[in-house]
Amino acid sequence: MSPVPISQINTGHIDDVQELRKAKPTLVPERFVRDATERPTPCAVLDHDSYEVPIIDFSKLMKVDEDEGSWRAEILKLKRACQDWGFFQVVNHGIDLSLVEGIEEVAKEFFMLPLEEKQRYPMVAGTVQGYGQAFVFSEDQKLDWCNMFALGVEPQFIRNPKLWPKNPPKFSGTVDDYSREVRKLCQNLLNSIAITLGLKEGTFNEMFGVGVQAIRMNYYPPCSRPDLVLGLSPHSDGSALTVLQQGKGSSVGLQILKDTKWVSVQPVPNALVINIGDTLEVLTNGKYKSVEHRALTHKEKDRLSIVTFYAPSYEVEIGPLPEMVDEINHPCTYRRYNHGEYSKHYVTSKLQGKKTLDFAKIIN
Ligand code: OGA
Ligand code: NI
Repeated sequence: MSPVPISQINTGHIDDVQELRKAKPTLVPERFVRDATERPTPCAVLDHDSYEVPIIDFSKLMKVDEDEGSWRAEILKLKRACQDWGFFQVVNHGIDLSLVEGIEEVAKEFFMLPLEEKQRYPMVAGTVQGYGQAFVFSEDQKLDWCNMFALGVEPQFIRNPKLWPKNPPKFSGTVDDYSREVRKLCQNLLNSIAITLGLKEGTFNEMFGVGVQAIRMNYYPPCSRPDLVLGLSPHSDGSALTVLQQGKGSSVGLQILKDTKWVSVQPVPNALVINIGDTLEVLTNGKYKSVEHRALTHKEKDRLSIVTFYAPSYEVEIGPLPEMVDEINHPCTYRRYNHGEYSKHYVTSKLQGKKTLDFAKIIN
């Protein structure tokens, strides 16, 4: 999520979807209408309602000394979740409910501000921080039915203080407090994930250094034609781990690609959705894969999601860990590169499934 300004991008006019919805509730401009192959297909969703993303009890992962049996069982569940799904929900994550509710409140308040006020923090074309639509690079690119507000959080040098809103007054403090807790959660999960791979607990955290952390709030207003549009284009995340909070009372909207079918992630009260990003896929030589996901919209209900991306420090060299490679059964399928390079590549490419990961693949 480093801010990478690119000159000479012509995105054309990008409608603000909240304003569109307010002024012309039944209009969906052509630029949001997806080609037939990309549109949501309701029957695929219904057919696969029986698929449930695994639920992991984080408190059990943290209690190795007290209850070895239940810790071991949860580690095994985590291993299967990472291997078979790339997505899971964590309950008992230990983040104070007041913070979980607080971040939602300030995010909602921010999106409800008048457009002119939000536009004081513009997301410049080719960058990924501020208010607007990220990942738009040309006039003919289809647009997502979504407003985003994104900020670099850690380390300090990725922050752009001009983009941190003064209003709502509690916004910045809440983002800081929430992010501190989510960071700890990511680091703890990375320790547990290392264990599921038979690695030393601290492998990832030691390697990552001062991890890069960013937050993105996505607001999806209702859309009169949810069958024609996408809230967010299919993509995998460039992070190591992503933590996604679904707003209370929001419509169901997040879908993941499971066995070639789109499956909805049903919100579980006070749970956080975790997913494996491209960086862990490379480090594990493809044992744990980043999974393509997208967001849909709803005819009457709006939806809010608060997403944290956690990744290695930019200067860290990434490539499959030697323990994950054996020339006969698991040959190395990704090259080595600097994480900063990947990050730059990711934010300067449009969201298009897992295409950005081609950057790292060794093609034979
Ligand atoms: C993301 C993302 C999904 C959602 O921001 O990377 O996948 O449900 N969001 O908002
Ligand atoms: Ni995502």
